[in-house]
Amino acid sequence: MRVAISTGGGDAPGLNAVIRTAVLSGLNRGWDVLGIRKGFGGLLGDDGVESLTRDRVRGIGALGGTILRTTNRGNPFSWPVQQPDGTWVRVDRSDELIAHARQLGIDAMICIGGDGTLAIANQLVEKGMNVIGVPKTIDNDVAGTISTFGFDTAVGTAIEAIDKLKTTAESHDRVIVMEVMGRDAGFIALYSGLAAGADAILIPEIPFSIEKVAQKVMERERMGRHFSIVVVAEGAAPVGGEVSIIGESMPGQEKRVGGLAGRLAYQLQETTGKESRSLVLGHLQRGGTPTGYDRALAARFGGAAIRAVADGKWGHMVALKSPDIVTVPMSEALAQTKRVPLDGDMVRTAREVGISFGD
Ligand code: F6P
Repeated sequence: MRVAISTGGGDAPGLNAVIRTAVLSGLNRGWDVLGIRKGFGGLLGDDGVESLTRDRVRGIGALGGTILRTTNRGNPFSWPVQQPDGTWVRVDRSDELIAHARQLGIDAMICIGGDGTLAIANQLVEKGMNVIGVPKTIDNDVAGTISTFGFDTAVGTAIEAIDKLKTTAESHDRVIVMEVMGRDAGFIALYSGLAAGADAILIPEIPFSIEKVAQKVMERERMGRHFSIVVVAEGAAPVGGEVSIIGESMPGQEKRVGGLAGRLAYQLQETTGKESRSLVLGHLQRGGTPTGYDRALAARFGGAAIRAVADGKWGHMVALKSPDIVTVPMSEALAQTKRVPLDGDMVRTAREVGISFGD
């Protein structure tokens, strides 16, 4: 059996722990394990394929990032190609990818990624490839699994940042708006904001009104609390308004969401008269040593992926269904969307302790 592993989309702490466990489990079965570099690109002449040996994965479990590298611009079904006149067109290179995988004697692939990568993996299954998925995202927005590795580490980073911002905000009587990742789902904002005691949490699932956030700030002011912390997910939007888009995306890439915190701080300062500052936590949330929870979950996913290969569960992804790791059809998981449940205990608890959602 020759298995090839790839990591696609944005990186997440724990990717290397998945790779390490899958490689060791595969090698211990007497299999050959390859790494496809740079998402699917390694099979399309971009950065190639390498042999994953014991030496190659030694000590990587604690490392953030991915030793295989990754990209969010490498969809083989819609590959960006620049024309001589400088414009870009999309080309379907999936047949080329499959032919190259066959040439290399790859019997099965383990694709580690978020919903974008898993959708590509599922399309490859439909074209006859033997693929197992491993869900990954710091945003925790892949359905079919209770959680994804990387999320816990990102939440920890955000909590640490809120703790630090609180003392400076309090010392200066300021409002500080902190933006976290969460393009479509507000899990990072909700978990970190509730755990660290934010005063307002703005998430994509709940359109906000700046007046309501300002009300919360002024209510605190009247109570003698002269500072406020607002945690905002990058994909949050005002009632009837648009998501904030920042800068130019690269060809083949989704629109870059972000930059909301700066605008909100400006609007809050205008509305409340209180000095307001902003911070975009950005890619800090994607780095660092994965937490113990993420390392254990990643290791479990890596091991389960190899067992799924042995069982021929093509088209399935591994998933956490506490206390077990199970496999679920990728098509089933992809057909659902995972968002913050508005009637869930976390939103209710947050409201009950007085946190505003700007609604
Ligand atoms: O993995 C998803 C995510 O964390 C989103 O929340 C965010 O919009 C995106 O990645 C940013 O990715 P990048 O800036 O690296 O393209």
